Amino acid sequence: MLRLNDLDICLLKDKPKFLNICVQWSYDEWGKHVEGCTLSEMKKTYVSRLTGDGLPLMWIALKDDVAVGMVGLKKHGHSERENLSPWLSSLYVDEQYRGRGLGQFLIEHTKQQAKIMGYRNIHLYTSVSSSFYTHNGWEHIGYVTDPMNTKRKAALYAQELS
Ligand SMILES: CC(C)(COP(=O)(O)OP(=O)(O)OC[C@H]1O[C@@H](n2cnc3c(N)ncnc32)[C@H](O)[C@@H]1OP(=O)(O)O)[C@@H](O)C(=O)NCCC(=O)NCCS
Repeated sequence: MLRLNDLDICLLKDKPKFLNICVQWSYDEWGKHVEGCTLSEMKKTYVSRLTGDGLPLMWIALKDDVAVGMVGLKKHGHSERENLSPWLSSLYVDEQYRGRGLGQFLIEHTKQQAKIMGYRNIHLYTSVSSSFYTHNGWEHIGYVTDPMNTKRKAALYAQELS
C-alpha cells in the first residue's frame, strides 16, 4: 500500500545515507548507457549535488525511511539549450512502487519548488519516456542530442509553472 501522504520528500543533502541508492538507480537507468560513464563518475556528480544552497538539488521520496524514488532540479540541463532553465532531471521511481502516482507526485513537488524559486517554466529531455511526459501534460518543444547515444535525438519538453 502506498499512500502519498505517508511519504517524506527530503533533500538528498539532508539525508546523505541515501546517496548510494540514488547513484545506483541513476547509473543503472542512464549512466551505463553513456560512453565512458562509470559508477564512480556518477557518484562524483551526485556528491556535487550535496553541497551549496542553490541548484542543482536532489530530493528523495522516503517511505518508512526506505528510499522509493528521486528527482532533481538543475539550472543547466543540456549544452545545446543553455538558454533554457531550470531542468527537471533524474526522475526515478523504484520498480515496485510504480503505477501509484509517485512519479507525478515528484514532478509536482519539483515544479512547486521551481516556482517558489521564481522560475516561470521548467524543462526536461528524455529519449525513453516521451509517452509518460506527453500523458502528463508536458509540451514537446523540440529535440536535443541524446547523451546516451549521440547518434540519436532526445525529445525536449516544457511546462509553464502556472
Ligand atoms: C517514468 C516513471 C518515473 C513513472 O513513475 P510512476 O510512479 O510509475 O508514474 P505515475 O504512477 O505517477 O504515473 C502518472 C500517470 O502517468 C501514466 N504513466 C506512467 N508511466 C507511463 C508511461 N511509460 N507512458 C505513458 N503513461 C505513463 C500513469 O498511468 C498515470 O496516468 P493517470 O494519472 O492518467 O492514471 C517510472 O516508470 C520510472 O522511474 N521509470 C524509469 C526511469 C525513467 O524513465 N524516468 C523518466 C525520466 S527519463
